[in-house]
Amino acid sequence: MTKPLTIALSKGRILEQTLPLLEAAGLTPCEDVFTTRKLMVDGSTIDAGDVRFLIIRAADVCTYVEQGAADMGIAGRDSLLESRPHVYEPLDLKIGRCRMCVCGPKHLVEAGKPERGSRIRVATKYDHLASDYFLAQGVQAEIIHLYGSMELAPLVGMADRIVDLVETGGTLKANGLIEETTLFDISSRLIVNPASFAVRKMQIQPIVERLRQAVNQLQGEN
Ligand code: PRP
Repeated sequence: MTKPLTIALSKGRILEQTLPLLEAAGLTPCEDVFTTRKLMVDGSTIDAGDVRFLIIRAADVCTYVEQGAADMGIAGRDSLLESRPHVYEPLDLKIGRCRMCVCGPKHLVEAGKPERGSRIRVATKYDHLASDYFLAQGVQAEIIHLYGSMELAPLVGMADRIVDLVETGGTLKANGLIEETTLFDISSRLIVNPASFAVRKMQIQPIVERLRQAVNQLQGEN
C-alpha cells in the first residue's frame, strides 16, 4: 500500500488562513484540526489518493519536509530564510503576510541606527538573519535567542533591539517599541521535498496547480 501523501501544516494563527486555501484546492482534513490533540490527521482529496496532515510548530515544518517525513508543507518565508532548507518552493500562498523588522524602544530608534563598530544586544528567534544584517552594518551584535514574545526583551533591559515579525504593529505599540528597518516581506510558501517531487510528481503536481488556482481565486475575492 502506498504511504499517504503527507502535508505539514503550521499550528497557530496561520492555520486559520491555511484551511480555506486547502479546501479550495480540494484538500480537507477529516477532523477539526483546531480542537483535536492528534498531531497527524487523515484527510481527503479530489484525486491525489490518500493524504494526511501533520500539525506542527511553524519552525519545524521545514525540518519535516527537508527530512522527507512530510512530502509537502506550508512554511513562512521567515523560517525558510532563517533555516535555508533544501526544499522546492513552487508557490507563494500569499497568506500570513507580514514583515520582518528590526525594532527597538522609541527613544533608542529615534536616536539613530547603531553606529558602525558599536556593540548591541539583539533578541530574536532569527539568529542567522539578525547576525547577517548587523554584520553587514558593521555593528557587533550579541544575539540573544528567544522562542517568542521578543517585544519583552527591551522592556526588561535585556536587549537594545529585536528582530521579529510585524503584522499590524499592535504588539510593538503596546510595548513602546517602533520599527527601525524592514528586512524582508514575509508570506507563507508551499514547500516540497525534492525526492518526493521526483517520485510522486503525478500526485504533487496537480495539488500545486489547484493551490495556485485557489490562491488566485481567494486573492480575487479580497
Ligand atoms: C507574532 C510576532 C509578534 C506579533 C506581531 O507573534 O512574533 O510578536 O505576532 O503581530 P502584530 O504586529 O499584529 O502585533 P505571535 O503572536 O505569533 O507569537 P510569538 O511571540 O510566540 O511568536
